[in-house]
Amino acid sequence: MGCLALENRPGHLERAEPTVRAALAAGITLFDTGNSYGNAVHGSAAFGVNEALVGELLGRLGVAAKVFVATKTGHIRTPEGGWDLDGSAGYIRKSVDGSLRRLGVEQIDLYQHHRPDPKVDYAESMGALREVFEAGKARMIGISNANPAQILLAREVLGDALVAVQNEYSPAFRTSEPELALCERLGLSFLAFSPLGGMGAARRLGQAHESFGAVAADLGVSPQQVCLAWLRTRSTELIPIPGASRPESIADSALAAELELPAEYLQRLP
Ligand SMILES: NC(=O)c1ccc[n+]([C@@H]2O[C@H](COP(=O)([O-])OP(=O)(O)OC[C@H]3O[C@@H](n4cnc5c(N)ncnc54)[C@H](OP(=O)(O)O)[C@@H]3O)[C@@H](O)[C@H]2O)c1
Repeated sequence: MGCLALENRPGHLERAEPTVRAALAAGITLFDTGNSYGNAVHGSAAFGVNEALVGELLGRLGVAAKVFVATKTGHIRTPEGGWDLDGSAGYIRKSVDGSLRRLGVEQIDLYQHHRPDPKVDYAESMGALREVFEAGKARMIGISNANPAQILLAREVLGDALVAVQNEYSPAFRTSEPELALCERLGLSFLAFSPLGGMGAARRLGQAHESFGAVAADLGVSPQQVCLAWLRTRSTELIPIPGASRPESIADSALAAELELPAEYLQRLP
């Protein structure tokens, strides 16, 4: 489950706990957050809001040690709530301690570099992630929004510590095909972000992509389930991380883990 939507819009905070409860009840064990997530709409300079919320909820529900938490570094927020980048080694080294504190853990399961910073040599950012791994502060390392050359460089610097690439992939966004193919070749997991088309578009998926809507109607499931089941057929390395702020959304999306699309339906999907 992607946690970005948990508190990103006014009124969602009250639903955060029921939504995480619904995810756990549905068998979801991977939660993706980021140190820069939170308050984008509210325009606040507060930092680490989403991580702190995820850490608090997982602790309160007594599952912190049983689930897998992925977070990210490398994005920063402006005082107005906008987004900026800091891929410097100094920032990465410092920011991991804030993530550990907010998540309430001694080791982060998956620590991801959020986005390449054009002001910083990518090898420098990767070197800092390696230090974080070697210090035992992260069990595994991931990168995000990376192109094939960056994936190969990350692999060179990080070796087997690198286990995952998180890039956008959905019916509307397929330009990550080369990265997906490279992940398959290297044996890296591919976490597909915004798998339903992103927060604004996800609910209209069945209308925006009519074949998904039509297959869903035939099978008696939601278009979002069809989309997530279809994504799973793209590669055994692909793990979709659908976001949700409502318990109903994540409960429905989780059903896609059991949905096997018959061949005649798969042929109807582009
Ligand atoms: N690495 C990066 O740069 C990056 C960028 C963007 C996102 N991400 C990650 O990817 C995750 C998911 O991406 P996203 O939130 O942008 O987009 P998304 O997963 O494509 O869409 C999220 C929206 O889908 C709705 N939804 C989910 N399941 C549904 C269902 N079964 N039926 C109807 N609506 C459903 C939710 O609505 P409700 O809110 O109403 O529940 C939610 O707002 C994020 O949480 C974050 O962890 C990473």
